[in-house]
Amino acid sequence: MRSYKTTMVDPVRLLPREDRDAALADAGYNVFNLDSADVFVDLLTDSGTGTMSNDQWAAMMQGDEAYAGGDSFADLEAAVSDVMGFENVVPAHQGRGAENVLYGALVSEGDTILNNAHFDTTRAHVVANGGDAVDCPVEAATDMDSDDPFKGDFSLDRARAVVDDVGAENVPVVVLTITNNSMAGQPVSVDNTRAVAEFADDIDATFVVDACRFAENAHFVQQREPEFADDSVAAIAREQLSYADACVMSGKKDGLVNIGGFVGIREGRDELHEQCRQRGILYEGFSTYGGMSGRDIAAFAVGLREAVDPPYVAERVEQVQRLCEALADRGVPVYQPAGGHAVYIDANRALDHIPRDQYPGQAFVCELYREGGVRGVELGRFAFPDTDRRDLVRLAVPRRMYGPDHVEHVADTAEAVCERADEISGLEIVEEPEMEELRHFSAELRPVE
Ligand code: F0G
Repeated sequence: MRSYKTTMVDPVRLLPREDRDAALADAGYNVFNLDSADVFVDLLTDSGTGTMSNDQWAAMMQGDEAYAGGDSFADLEAAVSDVMGFENVVPAHQGRGAENVLYGALVSEGDTILNNAHFDTTRAHVVANGGDAVDCPVEAATDMDSDDPFKGDFSLDRARAVVDDVGAENVPVVVLTITNNSMAGQPVSVDNTRAVAEFADDIDATFVVDACRFAENAHFVQQREPEFADDSVAAIAREQLSYADACVMSGKKDGLVNIGGFVGIREGRDELHEQCRQRGILYEGFSTYGGMSGRDIAAFAVGLREAVDPPYVAERVEQVQRLCEALADRGVPVYQPAGGHAVYIDANRALDHIPRDQYPGQAFVCELYREGGVRGVELGRFAFPDTDRRDLVRLAVPRRMYGPDHVEHVADTAEAVCERADEISGLEIVEEPEMEELRHFSAELRPVE
């Protein structure tokens, strides 16, 4: 059961079928172009879409809007230090702002950056700075049915092979993304984190943790890594983050806010801190607000503490697991086990008659909307061009927002799509932006005749 009650409501409606068909065509078969009022259950992202607590709303009323040295920023610094262990905080408007600040300082033309798997904006920032973004997932990550407890781990074998190839001097940064969003939201063990930190140290690289979903990851560690079975989520989170030289954080995930982010920098990394501070001032705003209002910062400081406060995160991850089970029970091919923030449907199995160059993942996303007003997102070939990854459809669950009836509706909708798979055709791109890494946000498509 949820350990909270709802005291504010936000009505939603299911449009008639023919209106959904029309909205989809108007959107160019890209659900990013839909109006949210036309969406019934919105699982496009868990980013910035969740419900804030009354304590967060109360903190917002006390936000200090000073340009410099505001109280709210001091509260955020204290929360980052207590919860995540980083003494230096360079604020940013959201995660990708923090990525711009940090990767602009660390990545140069011709560098190779290793990551268990780059999220799309992370890859784009590496590429924009002239780097080559190389993923090092473990083998189990691409096995939809393996019950390996840490399919999000970083493969040191792959990383060593890349370093042998390009030379350690060309690998200035090693990133660990927890949980691993591009690999089905799978967790990373603390054991793996320690090994990656050691590897980064050996090659003299800066070790960065992308900590967007650090609390969800800590919950999985508590459940699955025997060494930590008796530890609190808060203690595990601090332990796991203690190995990193720096972190990039999007507050829109485990910060439990609608907007915000920061770069956290380990004490003693003065040069990196100063570089980030200056880049922060240039791109985000002065170093005590970084693109956020004082109100946003105040809510963020409270949200970070709530993220590791039981029973919040256990309930949150269990809801995602219930969605995964409901889909699996109805025969929808899902990636197992469920991720921390999302369930991933395998469109290559669900729509196995659609060739991969006709984006079966995106076709499935469109049909979920057409069938039940459900908005998910493709994270396959359409989002990640030129990769051999499977065509997964992500159903990301906003935090503290939907109830069990929504979960049932989504599962019934996906089942209905699978049942009429034969009638569903592939898609072709009609228009796409210049930067291929960002195409799924705005490209337009049409059904293949
Ligand atoms: N890193 C990871 C692992 C992410 O999942 C995201 C965002 C970012 C960085 C960038 O953060 O959105 O605040 O600029 N992920 C969202 C998603 C957008 O839907 O998964 P941001």
